[in-house]
Formats: sequence, C-alpha cells, structure tokens
Amino acid sequence: MIHRSKYPTVFGGAAACLLVLTTVATAQEASKSPGPKQYPAEMNQKFVDPNADVERFVKQFENQGRDVYAKREAIARAVGPRPGEAVADIGAGTGLFTQLFAQRVGSKGRVYAVDIGPAFLKYIAEQAKKQGHERIVETVLNTQDSTKLPAGSIDAAFLCDTYHHFEHPQAMLASIHRALRPGGRLIIVDFDLRKGASQFVKHRARAPKEAYFREIAAAGFKLVERQDAPVLKDNFYAEFRRTEHKPSVQP
Ligand SMILES: C[S@@+](CC[C@H](N)C(=O)[O-])C[C@H]1O[C@@H](n2cnc3c(N)ncnc32)[C@H](O)[C@@H]1O
Repeated sequence: MIHRSKYPTVFGGAAACLLVLTTVATAQEASKSPGPKQYPAEMNQKFVDPNADVERFVKQFENQGRDVYAKREAIARAVGPRPGEAVADIGAGTGLFTQLFAQRVGSKGRVYAVDIGPAFLKYIAEQAKKQGHERIVETVLNTQDSTKLPAGSIDAAFLCDTYHHFEHPQAMLASIHRALRPGGRLIIVDFDLRKGASQFVKHRARAPKEAYFREIAAAGFKLVERQDAPVLKDNFYAEFRRTEHKPSVQP
C-alpha cells in the first residue's frame, strides 16, 4: 500500500534534504567516535530470519581465525560445567559451545541452547542428534526481553560474543538472574574494547568491559576473580556469581 504525504511537495523535499544532511552528519560523527558502527537491532536482523543460511555462519563462527574458536577448548575448560549440571548457552549461534558443554555435563546433565534465531536452533538440534547429545541438548527460542528459561533451572549461564547483541541488556540480565539457581554462575566472553583494540572489535563492542560490568553488577551479580581465565586476543573472559540482590528490572 502506498501512503501519500499530507504535506506539500516543497516541504517534503526540504524535509528530505534535511534528513539526508542530518544522516550524513551523524554517520560522519559515528565514524570518528570509538563506539560501535553497528547497533544490536541492526546486527540481529540476519539472525532472526527463519531461512538464515546457517552454513554461512558455521564458516564465520567456526573458523581458526576467530579468537574464541581457536581457544574454544580452553574456554570450555574454564567454564568447567560438571557432570549432571544444567548450563544455558545464551546466544548459542551454531552451537559451538553447546556441543562442548554437552560432552562435559554428560547424560545426567542438560544444556539449553538459547537463541533468537530459529534456523540456528534447528541446526543445533540436528548436530546434537548426530553427536548423540539429543537427550542432553534442549533448544529454546527466546526473545530480546527473556531467556524463556524457568526460574531456578540452571547452574550456569554462558554468553559468547552475545552480550553486545542484547537489545535490552537489563531485561535479559534480570531473566538470567531468575533462571540461575542460588550461587549460580554467569560467564561472559565478549569483545574487549581495550587500548589498541582492532577495528573489528571497535566496530562491534557497545562499550568498554567496565561499563558492561557495572550493568551486570546492578542486575545482582558479583565479579569473581579468575587468575586462570583464558587469555584471548579480541575478547575478555569474565565470571560472575548470582547474588541475592533483587534486580531493579523484573523479567
Ligand atoms: C556473534 S553470534 C555468537 C554465537 C555463539 N555464541 C558463538 O560464539 O559462536 C551472536 C548470537 O547471539 C544471538 N542473540 C542476539 N540477541 C540475543 C538475545 N537477546 N538472546 C539470545 N540470543 C541472542 C544471535 O542470534 C547470535 O546467534
């Protein structure tokens, strides 16, 4: 359906011109600033498509040139899910970590692969079946406001290169807090906007990690010192413990 403007054409033309000039100015400012060049809602568009080409993402995410893929075993070891535990891989993508965690929690454990992308979840379920993890891995289609996990259902929540994709970080953090059992762990690996960070990281990170940590602390989590955390090139590794502090945003 075509909507006709109720404003005269001259006004419409001037407004369009102003809009173009403003857009250009904003884009120029953005290219000078250290902030992200892409924003979460924009980045997530390609993931929510039910017909997304998952093989393309497998090539992109499961690639030796990717920091977290090259160090995936060290990351899984540091997260260290124990046999019988329930772990949520939030923003599971192609399930790179889901399958590694499934090996660790074993037949009495559970890995929830949580993602906003239905095509990813279908792929993860197929892979779980191929690897004999179909009784361990459960896929969960969530939203930008909720993990859709029941209260007190998990021992640990893990996010790899996903926190900066959250469109509503406080709502997601409140939902993770609710899903974790008392004393449960939240592990975040994400792009580190440190001094000397690559252009790739600068284009994606929403803020320096200290700003993320303040958001996470406000949501009822305490940073845990890990001297043995894996050292990553583009990412930080951070671990938090759920505290009894009630987050201000309710899921
Ligand atoms: C860069 S990919 C990382 C995938 C995987 N964790 C890995 O490291 O290979 C980011 C993922 O976050 C998902 N995502 C974005 N916002 C999300 C949200 N609010 N809740 C769950 N998943 C989300 C996307 O669909 C995508 O699969």
